[in-house]
This record gives sequence, structure tokens and C-alpha cells, in this order.
Amino acid sequence: MFKTNRGRNLFFSTEIEAGISDADVVFVAVNTPNKTFGQVAEKAADLQYLEKTSRQILAHSTSDKIIIEKSTVPVRTSNAMERILNGGKNNIRFDVLFNPEFLAEGTAIRDLESPDRVLIGSRETENGIKARKEIVEIYANWVPKERIIESNTWSAERSKLTENAFLAQRISSINAISALCEKTEADINEVASAVGMDSRIGPKFLDARVGFGGSCFKKDIFNLVYICQNYDLQEVADYWESVVKINEWQENRFVRNMLSSMFNTIAGKKISLLGFAFKANTGDTRESPAMYIARGLLEEHAQIVVSDPQALGNARNDLKDAEGDLVFEENPYKAAEGAHAIAVLTEWDEYRNLDYERLLSSMVHPSFIFDGRNILDHQRLFEMGFNVYSIGRAPLKHFR
Ligand code: UGA
Repeated sequence: MFKTNRGRNLFFSTEIEAGISDADVVFVAVNTPNKTFGQVAEKAADLQYLEKTSRQILAHSTSDKIIIEKSTVPVRTSNAMERILNGGKNNIRFDVLFNPEFLAEGTAIRDLESPDRVLIGSRETENGIKARKEIVEIYANWVPKERIIESNTWSAERSKLTENAFLAQRISSINAISALCEKTEADINEVASAVGMDSRIGPKFLDARVGFGGSCFKKDIFNLVYICQNYDLQEVADYWESVVKINEWQENRFVRNMLSSMFNTIAGKKISLLGFAFKANTGDTRESPAMYIARGLLEEHAQIVVSDPQALGNARNDLKDAEGDLVFEENPYKAAEGAHAIAVLTEWDEYRNLDYERLLSSMVHPSFIFDGRNILDHQRLFEMGFNVYSIGRAPLKHFR
């Protein structure tokens, strides 16, 4: 996509001042991580980049502009941007719009080309509505009009956080039920497909796994929680916080399950972690469940080998302060040599198709496999000789 358009209607430049002053429309897509310092660290968003950018736009603008906030933001951030921009003395009008981004990692181009919907929020004034119509026309070049929704700015801001909270909540819901299935001879995949066939519920985002990761869900829920607390809605805050709590519990449960299955001790045992990225097709490891699991296993003094086709650089960085016996090995066969257990922590396609006979023959026996992503053929692995533990199904093991 870049190759076809670069030099035609796509240009890259580090000349920010000229970029701003020449533009009619400026998309602001800076980071809004949660604060790591000071008041309400971890929960409130760190808005310094948005504020600095607003001041930079103001300083270099010589004509009226539409400013589009793309970053995920807490309540009424557009207001703050408007105040900074329109507080200038130079008679320039800035219309601040909020146009949240809904794309997911690994499917970004598909999501861009064929979005479920595009949402554009503005002030419901004559100028605000005119500005948002201009942006609708840009998207209408490739998105059907019925999928472009307009709303007031505050609804658009709330929609983005609510959407991520709902997605994360679905995962925590199915993960919570997965624990119950493991105890009651039910199979979470069968439950999820039965439930997902109800058209009111739908089949997507019902894959029970080791826990959700990524840079967005936890951050956005904490943000929602913080906003609710600010408005004295403690019960609402508690409700959403429980989505993150279940996620942390699911990650811990995975470590506890490994420990108890392997005769209550993993000290000195080699364990091969296949996958470190928070999901397949990305090297991103932010909030990856694999990071928490690796740390949990190291605390039990296990010997950890981390393998991943794309994320080893980030994994090294994430675990640089972790104490214990830890190595990184890209080749999954080498990673499993002499291991007591394999844990699949990212659903990379190549892990579905490994030669598991070969892996088993190089491992210590009895050999364990913990499928944190439910991607393997468990019955076949069991018949081969593995003791197989998955999410949401009773284990298949060769001893009582
Ligand atoms: C998420 C949202 O899906 C996007 O719509 C949103 O735009 C984006 O955050 C954002 O706010 O920037 P992303 O974090 O890239 O996108 O990844 P997801 O595909 O949502 O996966 C998040 C986590 O949930 C992954 O760890 C994934 O393995 C896990 N997951 C997903 C499950 O455990 N079960 C599922 O059924 C689906």
C-alpha cells in the first residue's frame, strides 16, 4: 500500500512546522499511555503528548484547520485540546473532532480498508457539523456511507473505551466459564459455539485462552474505572475492574495449574514457552500473558526457555530484570530439548504444525504440554504420549 502511494498522495517528512502550516486537516495520533508516575499512576491517561502536540499545532498554524483526535482518550479530552487551540490570539479557527481508531494489530490493513464502521464525533454546532461532513467525504472514498457514523464528540470518546471494555469483558466471561468447564467435564469450545450461535451474542471473541494482552484492553479499562470513580460511580468502576481481575486470575491460574500438574514442583525443571507475543502475527509483547507466566514460573525456580518467531527482541527487553534461569531460543525444537514441559502461549500457525513426535522424543518423561491457546490436536498429542492440559477442558493425562 505504501509502495503504490508513496510520492503520489502519501509523503513522509520530519518537517513538522511546514506539515502543520500546509495542512487543512491534522490527524493527531500520539500515544496516550497510562501514567507511570505521580497522581493516579497506572489508571489515568498520560495526556502530555496530546497537550504538547496541540501547542505545536497552535504555534505553527496560519490558517483555519480541522484537528482530528485519533488517540484513545479519557473524558472530554477534546475540550482541553479545543481550549488550548482556540485560546491563541491569532484569529484562526480550529474545529476539533474525535475519530477513534478501531483497527487491531495483525489485521490493520484489512480493518482500514474494510472497517465495520467509522465514527466521527464533533461539536453539534454549525461549524462542528460542517467539519465532520468534510471528514465523512474523505472516508466515503472507500467506506460505504451507511458505515460512517456521526455523533457528538463525547459519545464518540465514550464509544471507543466502551467497545474495548466490551471486547475484554467477553474474553473474561468465556475465560471464567473455562475454569468451570475444566471442573465439570464440559468442553469450552462446545459451550462457546453453542452460545455464539445465538445471533444476539454472535461467535466472535469467544476463544477461551490464557488471558488477553496487548497495549489497549487493560489500559482502557483502567481508564474507564478511573473516570467512573471520578464521577462517584464506584459500583460501575468495580464492575469493569473485575474484567481485568479475572484476566489476571486466568494468567495466575495457568501457572498454578502447571505447578500442581507437574507434581507440585517445577524448581530446576526446564520449561519451553512457545510464543511470547500477545497474539499471533505481531512481535508486540505489551501486556502479553506470556510475560506474566514466565515471571510466575521463574519465581518457582523453573528453568525457562522462551521461543517466538517475531517477539524475541521484545521478550528479552521485557524480562531483562527477571531473576532466574532464563534463555531465549528461536528454534522451537532446540527450545524443547530436555524440557519437562512445553507451554504454548501464542497462537502462531507454525506451532500447530510442529513435529510433536520429534519434540516428545527429545523431552524428559513424563512430558507435559500446556496449550494456553487451545490450538493443538489434544487427543492426538495424548495418544502420542504427552500429558495434555488445555483451557476449558479436563486434562488428558496418563496417570491419575
Ligand atoms: C484491540 C481491539 O480488538 C481493536 O478493535 C482496537 O482498535 C485496539 O485494541 C485498540 O484499541 O487499539 P488488539 O489489542 O490489537 O486490538 O488485539 P485483539 O485482537 O483485540 O486481541 C487482544 C487480546 O485478546 C489478545 O491477547 C488475544 O489473544 C486475546 N483474545 C482475543 C482472546 O483471548 N480471545 C479471543 O476470543 C480474542
